[in-house]
Amino acid sequence: MSFPTSLPRARTLDPKAAPTLRWGVLGTGWIADRFVASLRKHSSQQVVAVGSRTQSSAQAFADRHGITAAYGSYEAVVGAADVDVVYIATPHNAHLPNALLSLEAGKHTLIEKPLGTTAVEARQIAAAAEEAGVFCMEAMWTAFLPKYDVLRQLLADKALGGPLSVVADFGEWFADDHRIMRPELAGGPLLDLATYLVTFALGALGPVTDVAARGQSAPSGVLGQVGALLTHTGGTQSVLHTTLRGNTPTTAVIAGTEASLVVDGPFYQPGGFTLTSALGLGSLRYDEEPIAHEGLHFQAAEVARRITAGEMGSPLRPLADSIATLDVLDAIESACH
Ligand SMILES: NC(=O)c1ccc[n+]([C@@H]2O[C@H](COP(=O)([O-])OP(=O)(O)OC[C@H]3O[C@@H](n4cnc5c(N)ncnc54)[C@H](OP(=O)(O)O)[C@@H]3O)[C@@H](O)[C@H]2O)c1
Repeated sequence: MSFPTSLPRARTLDPKAAPTLRWGVLGTGWIADRFVASLRKHSSQQVVAVGSRTQSSAQAFADRHGITAAYGSYEAVVGAADVDVVYIATPHNAHLPNALLSLEAGKHTLIEKPLGTTAVEARQIAAAAEEAGVFCMEAMWTAFLPKYDVLRQLLADKALGGPLSVVADFGEWFADDHRIMRPELAGGPLLDLATYLVTFALGALGPVTDVAARGQSAPSGVLGQVGALLTHTGGTQSVLHTTLRGNTPTTAVIAGTEASLVVDGPFYQPGGFTLTSALGLGSLRYDEEPIAHEGLHFQAAEVARRITAGEMGSPLRPLADSIATLDVLDAIESACH
């Protein structure tokens, strides 16, 4: 295939035009704040309830975001009749119990990434969702950004040729007292950061057939940095690096015989990329406003559309893909020990 003369247009629907659902939030931490702020600023979704382990934290969160109902328990949110969909924003190791709480209460459920701490946990969540007959999805927000719709079209059109290689990194400096340093909260870079790397590599190259990895521990005992070499079906490779001890460019590259695609850092957030011909035929640039976590609303609009349509998940992030990501992360973790 010759180098394209222009990039495909993003087919992402207007988030503000999605049907309005009433959301309840579990947890009042960093991502919960950003999720609710993004919904309030960019969507027609309504956050009607928040639950916390403490009434005071729920009330402070509700006051910050103009939410009517503040509950001192998660049980109260999943039991509230006026909540259509529950968003789980608790630490990784709480995702399974909180997801079961919500699903068994019959609520549609959006669970922060990763779906569980292992693929075994993720499969338990998928089984509970099927049993309950409600919508369930991992909040892998990157999949719903317009940038990734353009990227998926380029891959489907084979604009990069083949075979493809992926090189990607995600390193961020964290203070010693951050949640990510705590073993009892399933800390470490794999579930928080490398989940984006593995999701990207699986999306570009398909299923993984072999995993090699090395890691070193941080002082708290969680993994501090990891380098992984994945072999994908057909023998293609991805090389991934993640660390908690420093800021790396956080770019992602897909290289093929026809063209290379370099996603600007941070590759998992709204932003741009450049597609450059391998044969010197020029380059094409995609840009979208780099609004960081203000972009969380794209996934909320998708959730609202799918639930309203009576669907149990989204084809852009089916539970099977979340489980496949955790299968690879489990294998990387094993290879590091
Ligand atoms: N999509 C993204 O870009 C993104 C970014 C960051 C994090 N995340 C994901 O979101 C989840 C939460 O991360 P975060 O950075 O928001 O964490 P955080 O700031 O520590 O907040 C987590 C919240 O969970 C609740 N919680 C329940 N059990 C807890 C426990 N045993 N220890 C501490 N908190 C507990 C707390 O709320 P209450 O006290 O109110 O109950 C706490 O505020 C993680 O799974 C992470 O992977 C996603």
